[in-house]
Amino acid sequence: MKFFLDSALVDEIRHALTMWDIDGVTTNPRHVQASGKPFLAVIQEIGSMFEGTDKTVSVQTNPASHGDYQAIVEEARRLAKLSPTFVIKMPSTEHGFKACRVLSDEGIRCNLTLCFSAAQGLQAMRMGAYYVSPFIGWKEGNGEEVQSFIEDLVAIRDNYNFGTEVLVAAVRNGRQIADAAVSGADIVTAGFSVFEEAFKHPYTDMGIGKFQEFWDETPYE
Ligand code: E4P
Repeated sequence: MKFFLDSALVDEIRHALTMWDIDGVTTNPRHVQASGKPFLAVIQEIGSMFEGTDKTVSVQTNPASHGDYQAIVEEARRLAKLSPTFVIKMPSTEHGFKACRVLSDEGIRCNLTLCFSAAQGLQAMRMGAYYVSPFIGWKEGNGEEVQSFIEDLVAIRDNYNFGTEVLVAAVRNGRQIADAAVSGADIVTAGFSVFEEAFKHPYTDMGIGKFQEFWDETPYE
């Protein structure tokens, strides 16, 4: 399963690339706003970090255009020209799906975001989505079961051999990362602190301390 970092902070992305070997990045308006940089400047800076690789950077279209598929298409075409790494995000709505159909027919890769049902995911796949992004943290926070949701998306994709990758998003902890992997998801995207915490365990730290004590009490030669 691929790991994407959900961030627009260049320092975080650099660390995640160097230390965690991440496979790509997802951004959204919240991350771009947090970067403190203009939208176009920050997405191009991130895109340039991945050029020459097969890793992708998902960038979101302006929500103001989301009620009109032609406006999504026009913006997506402009964004896609800026970096070969870009996959363009649009919502899992009627207009988002239609925009995806037009764009994917032109070879522009689309990430259908804000997916909350298997039926939405199926339509994203039918319309040629490169990625579909189920937001599991939002659903689980609402008391909904998410494991079968991910499994359904993977099964639908496999039943019909769609070319879409299931990109599990809004991930809050290591348990959800592992659940996504058990369910056969292709990719998980999570924030920096989620991965940082997921890669640690207090018993690992405790064990290092214990072994160090024995090591220090033992002659080396
Ligand atoms: C994924 O592509 C999104 O950027 C992300 O996971 C959004 O959810 P969050 O901001 O609630 O984590």
